[in-house]
Formats: sequence, structure tokens, C-alpha cells
Amino acid sequence: MGKAMIIGCGGVAKVTIHKCCQNSEVFSEILIASRTKSKCDEVKAELEAKGVKTIIHTAQVDADNVDELVKLIESFKPQVVVNLALPYQDLTIMDACLVTKTHYIDTANYEPPDTAKFEYSWQWAYRERFKEAEITALLGCGFDPGVTGIFSAYAAKHYFDEIHYLDILDANAGDHGYPFATNFNPEINIREVTANGRFWENGDWVETAPMEIKRVYDFPQIGEKDMYLLYHEELESLALNIKGIKRIRFFMTFGQSYLTHLKCLENVGMTSIEPIDFEGKQIVPLQFLKAVLPDPASLGPRTKGKTNIGCIFQGVKDGKPVTYYVYNVCDHQECYHEVGSQAISYTTGVPAMIGAMLVMNGTWQKPGVYNVEEFDPDPFMDALNKWGLPWVEDFNPTLVP
Ligand SMILES: NC(=O)c1ccc[n+]([C@@H]2O[C@H](COP(=O)([O-])OP(=O)(O)OC[C@H]3O[C@@H](n4cnc5c(N)ncnc54)[C@H](OP(=O)(O)O)[C@@H]3O)[C@@H](O)[C@H]2O)c1
Repeated sequence: MGKAMIIGCGGVAKVTIHKCCQNSEVFSEILIASRTKSKCDEVKAELEAKGVKTIIHTAQVDADNVDELVKLIESFKPQVVVNLALPYQDLTIMDACLVTKTHYIDTANYEPPDTAKFEYSWQWAYRERFKEAEITALLGCGFDPGVTGIFSAYAAKHYFDEIHYLDILDANAGDHGYPFATNFNPEINIREVTANGRFWENGDWVETAPMEIKRVYDFPQIGEKDMYLLYHEELESLALNIKGIKRIRFFMTFGQSYLTHLKCLENVGMTSIEPIDFEGKQIVPLQFLKAVLPDPASLGPRTKGKTNIGCIFQGVKDGKPVTYYVYNVCDHQECYHEVGSQAISYTTGVPAMIGAMLVMNGTWQKPGVYNVEEFDPDPFMDALNKWGLPWVEDFNPTLVP
């Protein structure tokens, strides 16, 4: 029996809210607080019509404003704040959690709005303050980052003495029927995929041009897909937390239509985050682009097909070489029928609920700021099977060249 405050009411938050309501024994009361209160009220009405047991409150909040957040947290008194707004709000929400001594969870690391650069340094700088306040901050508790870190901790705990190589593979074979749309917040998504690629090798970062490294992989239950090496935020924490690791790479699949549109938009300057003058007003091209693209939340009913996200590990156990692939396959339409969202939001929103549950019930509480792989993975792995993201193991997978 506990109270959680969820900030944001977009694609991912909607899934977490549905899942909290399915798990009403843990989440007896939730507060949905976001910039546009009408969206929170719509989700509340939808769930109340289904007769859920969780008591749902809603509120308007500007999560860039620490004082507003503090007032809201003080009046609702949740055990945990789940940040499902945008990465730009991470620090203000962490500040409010410090003032009110409330546990904190998010799914994406801080990114300053005016620089397309994300890294953990800003949030890791809160370690001492969270320790002193005796509260837990759980960073990056979506799928990737999130479950990919939990898979890594699970592999290290059960199957390896040392992991030497890790490839994280994120495949989306979903088709929404649009020539170009992004599966989650377009601004965050495009900033991520237009940045240089980067991977960890022999104690250092190796940088590549965007989409420079391409591989083809035959994904279980999905088939052959082109995938491209990207920098992804969990690489930073996993490079520190997996002892003895020699190389970590992250690959994501993209279809040709997506890449052709993206190149064209980039070439004409539409993906830029530099403000420009337009009819006497300053606008950011990428934010304008977001306004004309389909809302990711609207893709749910249209998207058919599956996602497959997982990790391939190579290393040694008892002196013998071991290879291990663990992945989840998620069906867009099944997600839509269950919670009204496609699989990208689903695979992020479910781990956020599980993380909130484990922090609330004390299983994953330790004062300070932590990435998911720093906790015991077993209760999380059990919960993934229970709450809609079952995983599959393969001890003889095809390796990525
Ligand atoms: N780890 C993973 O696997 C993973 C995968 C996908 C996404 N993510 C992360 O999940 C988060 C949510 O993504 P999404 O696709 O759900 O995004 P979204 O649909 O754009 O939703 C964002 C929500 O945050 C609200 N918001 C934005 N700024 C706010 C502010 N200043 N104050 C209060 N509310 C604010 C928005 O309000 P409005 O409704 O008014 O716009 C919206 O409801 C992002 O941080 C994203 O990077 C993580």
C-alpha cells in the first residue's frame, strides 16, 4: 500500500499509470501531475471507467519549477516520484525530491535543452546529497537504459565470472504506415540518432560519424534487419559497472524510409536546435518539426509488428568461454489492446512501474544515486515476467561481427 507521484502524461507515463493501476495492492494512490492537466484527467477518466482500485489524483505542474514541485509533493506526500516528463526536467525534480526527502526514479538521463549532449555527470553529482537525505535515486529505469542494465547485472550474477563483450540490440519491426514518424518524443529521439556514434573499447571511447557502422542481424521472432551503431546512455554506466568489460556497443534498427527522411530533414536544417528568426519570433527548427510530426501517442492503434530488445554477452565462467543472449519480444498490437499504447512506450513504462514498486517496498532502496545495474537484478527479472515483459535466454546465439 503506497503512494506514487508520476510526472508527465505522455506515451510512456500512460503505460506506467495503467500498470500502477493493475498493481493496486502496491499503488493504492497515485497523483498524475503534468504540464497539460486535461491529459491527466483523460487518463484518470479512462481508468476509472474500467473500475480500477487505485485512487487517482491529477494536478497541473511546471516541472521546471522546483517550488511548484515541492508544494505538490508536500501536499500529496508520495513515497516516490516517477519522472516521466522529459530529460530536461531531471535536475529540478531531483532538487524537489531532496527538499521533500522523497525517492526519485527516471528513465532518461539529464540533457540541457540548448546542447544536444546527454551524460550522467549532472545527476551523479547528486550522490552525496541523496545519501545525506537518506533517499534513493534510481536512474534510467526504462528498457534501454533500464532492462538492458538489469540483464547485464543478471548475466554477471548468474552466468559469468567476467563479461568481456556486450552488444545491446534494439530492433523495432513495427510498421505505423506513415513515411516518417518517431516512436517516442520526436525531439529527444532525433537528437539521439543524429548525434555521432560512440562505443567503448579497451578502456576508451571510439567515436564514429552518425550511422557510420551498419550490421545486418537476424532477430528472433522478427527476422533480418539493418541496424546501426549509436551512442546510448547506458553505455556510460555499464562501462564503469561491468568489471573487466573490453567492449560495449549499442545497435538500433532503422528502415530505409526513416533514414532517407531523416537525412533530408537534416540537410535542410529542420533537425537543428539552434533558434532562428521566423516572422519576428525565435523558433527552434527541431521543436517546429515535432509540432508537425504525428504525436507518438497516436501511433498505438496503427502500429503492427514486434520489438526485440536484448543483450549478447561474451565472457568466461570457471575458465571456459560463455556466450549468452537475453531478450524480450513485445507485440505492438497486444500492448495497444492492453494499455492503449504501442510497444516502445510499453517497454519503457512497465520497467518504470517495476522500479517504483521495488523502491517503494524497500527491495531496491539504498541512500544515494544509482543506475539499475547496481541493484540485485533477480526481483526485477521476476517482475518483468509477471508484468508483461517476459524474457528469453539463448546460450548459442549468432554473434554480431
Ligand atoms: N529508457 C527508455 O527505454 C526510454 C524509451 C523511450 C522514452 N524514454 C524517456 O521517457 C520520457 C517520456 O517520453 P514520452 O515518449 O512519454 O514523451 P512525451 O510523450 O513527449 O511525454 C512527455 C510528457 O512530459 C510532459 N512535460 C514536458 N515538459 C514538462 C514540464 N516542464 N512540466 C511538466 N510536464 C512536462 C509533457 O506535457 P505535455 O503533455 O503538455 O506536452 C508530456 O505529457 C522521456 O524522458 C524519454 O526520453 C526512455
